[in-house]
Amino acid sequence: MSSRWILLATSLLVAPLLAPGGARADSHGPGAAELSTQALSAQALSSQAKAIFGPLPDVASAPNRPLSSPRVDLGRMLYYDARLSKNHDISCNSCHQLDNFGVDSEPTSPGHKGQRGGRNSPTSLNAALHVTQFWDGREPDVEAQAKGPVTNPIEMAMPSPEAAVQVLRSIPGYKSLFEAAFPGESQPVTYDNMGTAIGAFERGLVTPGPLDAFMAGDLKALDARQQKGLSSFLARGCASCHLGPALGGTLYRKIGLINAYETADKGRIEVTGAEVDLYVFKVPSLRNIAKTGPYFHDGSVKKLSDAVRLMGHHQLGIELTKAELGDIVAFLESLTGKVDTRYVARPKLPASGPDTPKPDPS
Ligand code: HEC
Ligand code: HEC
Repeated sequence: MSSRWILLATSLLVAPLLAPGGARADSHGPGAAELSTQALSAQALSSQAKAIFGPLPDVASAPNRPLSSPRVDLGRMLYYDARLSKNHDISCNSCHQLDNFGVDSEPTSPGHKGQRGGRNSPTSLNAALHVTQFWDGREPDVEAQAKGPVTNPIEMAMPSPEAAVQVLRSIPGYKSLFEAAFPGESQPVTYDNMGTAIGAFERGLVTPGPLDAFMAGDLKALDARQQKGLSSFLARGCASCHLGPALGGTLYRKIGLINAYETADKGRIEVTGAEVDLYVFKVPSLRNIAKTGPYFHDGSVKKLSDAVRLMGHHQLGIELTKAELGDIVAFLESLTGKVDTRYVARPKLPASGPDTPKPDPS
C-alpha cells in the first residue's frame, strides 16, 4: 500500500506545475508554491487532496481482524480498566485520554510510580489506520500493540501476561463478556484476546473533520486561508511524507533528513538493526494535530507553528515564511475531527471478585 501512495503523491505533486493553464515554476518567476497556489481552484484543490490523502474510512477495519459489537464493547471496557495495571491506577485512557483527543498533553507520560519513558504518547485516535504501531513501527497493528503497555514496567507494570489474565479471570463479569466477544472458544479469557478486543475498539476511533467534507466536494468546508494552507502543504512537499487518509502513518522517514535534528533517540534502527534506519521514525498522522501537542517523538515542541517551521527546516531544507506558517497551521486545524462522544464514553466496568488481586504500589 505504501508504494502506491508514494507513486500517487509523486505524480500528483508535480501535476499542478505542468497542468495546462497552470504556471510553470522556473528560475525567473515566483516560487513553485506561490504559482501552484494561484493556479489551483478550490475544485482542483479538493480533487488533488482527495487523490493524495483519500477518503477516511468509517472504521479502520482489517480482513484478519473481524469486528463485532460484543468485541468492541469489551475492548472499550478493557481500555478504561485500571485493574490491568499493577497498582490499579493506570489504564490506556490515562495516557490516551479519549476526552482529550487521545493524548495526555504531556511531553512524556507518567506511568507506574510516576516513571516516564523517553517518548511522547501519540494519540490513539485514527492510530489503527497506520501501517504499523509505535514511533518506530515495532508492532504490526493495534491488537498486537495493546499487549505491550500492560506489562511495560514503567507503564502499567503488570509482572507478566499471566498476571494480567489472572486479574481478568478473577472479575466474574468478564467471563460472559469474553465469551460473547470470542464465541466458540473454550477459554476465551486470554492475553491475546485482551489485545484483540482493545484493538477492535480502537478501530472505531476514526475522526472525520472539515478536510473530509472538502474532499467530498463541499468546497466551503475549508475557508480561504485553510485552502491556501492546503496548497502550501502540497506544493512545499509536506504531503510527500504526510499522505494517506491519516496524513501520515504510511511511511518511515528520518527526522533531520536535510538538516540534522538533535535527539538521543535512535529510532527504528533499534527495531531493524539496519544502519539506514538511524533516526528513522514512522511519519506520524496529522489528524487532530492541533489538539495533540506537544510535538515530535521527544515531545520537545509545544507550539504547532514551531513544529511546522522545524519540519520545513529539517525535512525539506526550506524556511517557511510567517504567512505560510500561519496558513499551514490554519489548514492543520481543519484536521481536528469529530470524536463520537457516545462511542468513547467511559463504560461501567464489571465489579471485582473476592480473588481479584489488590492494588500493589511497589
Ligand atoms: C504510561 C502511559 C501509557 C499507557 C498507560 C499506555 N500508553 Fe500507549 N503509548 C504510550 C507511549 C509513550 C507510546 C509511544 C511509545 C513508542 O513509540 O515507543 C504509546 C503508543 C501507543 C500507540 C501507537 C500509536 C501510533 O501512532 O503508533 C497506541 C495505539 C497505543 N499506545 C495504545 C495504547 C493502549 C491500547 C494502551 C492500554 C493497553 C496504552 N496505549 C497504554 C504511552 C502509554
Ligand atoms: C521527509 C518526510 C517529511 C516531510 C517532508 C515532512 N514531514 Fe512532518 N514529520 C515527519 C516525521 C518522520 C515526523 C516525526 C518526527 C519525529 O518526531 O521523530 C514528522 C512530524 C511532524 C509533525 C509532528 C507530529 C506529532 O504528532 O508530533 C508535524 C506537525 C508535521 N510533521 C508537519 C509537517 C509539515 C507541515 C510539513 C511540511 C512543511 C512536514 N511535516 C514535512 C516526516 C516529514
